[in-house]
Amino acid sequence: MKIIDNINDLKNEVKSLIGPIGLVPTMGALHDGHKSLIDRAVKENDNVIVSIFVNPIQFGANEDLDKYPRTLEQDVKLCQNAGVKIVFAPKVDEMYGTDKNNLTLICPPYSAVDKLCGKSRVGHFDGVCSVVAKLFNLSKAQKAYFGQKDAQQLFIIQKMVKDLDFDIEIVPCPIVREADNLALSSRNRYLNEEERKLALNISKSLFEAKKMYEMGIKETNKIIDNSLNLMQGLEVEYIEFVDKNTFEFQQNLNDNTIMLIAAKTPISNTRLIDNINLCTNF
Ligand code: PAJ
Repeated sequence: MKIIDNINDLKNEVKSLIGPIGLVPTMGALHDGHKSLIDRAVKENDNVIVSIFVNPIQFGANEDLDKYPRTLEQDVKLCQNAGVKIVFAPKVDEMYGTDKNNLTLICPPYSAVDKLCGKSRVGHFDGVCSVVAKLFNLSKAQKAYFGQKDAQQLFIIQKMVKDLDFDIEIVPCPIVREADNLALSSRNRYLNEEERKLALNISKSLFEAKKMYEMGIKETNKIIDNSLNLMQGLEVEYIEFVDKNTFEFQQNLNDNTIMLIAAKTPISNTRLIDNINLCTNF
């Protein structure tokens, strides 16, 4: 496995690869959720490139860019054991030069970002799309792997690929959870024991909602009331329902509905997101 931190070396290395290339873009602090994407990519491609880059342009001014966990040494080991060919871990200046405020960006449309995470994290998805587009160009991958944990991100990247005719297949991968259903996230390591217990009520709300839907409840009100009740002690940012294909909000639930939650914990102020498809046959 090669560990590469500069663009020219990556370009040269990619030129020498034989066979299909799969890309797994990450910000590091790798966990079993990331690993599931990497394992799938290794299964489906002769060559897998994992990028590890805490992308400053997708963080807002008051967000956790500085404290975001950086665990490169462990991440590299995980990649090596998983059969990855290249870890691309550039420094910020290598990706963006010294003038981060003067970049050409890819900005998804208002309709896709004026809701859910895009609403509170203004500019976030511009940063995500721009770095992902760069990684697509550099890796020359035929397939790229993204988690359904970040459902809006996945939707927006699929839209970018379609709208801009990127020659790459986006492979959606299911959410990996702890045994007690907490969705794995690099940010979970900010949580103390008490907060982790509180955080469990996010996935609990989603799984109870799914049960309610399966029992025939189609109105969002009852589900929202139940979730708010469960999530007392957390600062709920949103509980929303969208169509999985269009990401349009829904009043009446159906088999295409994804329910999404974002909430902050009270002590470390950690922002957590999770979602579920209300239909079992998803
Ligand atoms: P990061 O949060 O590191 O996530 C990298 C990939 O892992 C994303 O596709 C995300 O959806 C997936 N992932 C995270 N937790 C997961 C879980 N519990 N189960 C399944 N997949 C999971 O998302 C980003 O980085 C960045 O925005 C990035 C796309 C790399 C652009 O900077």
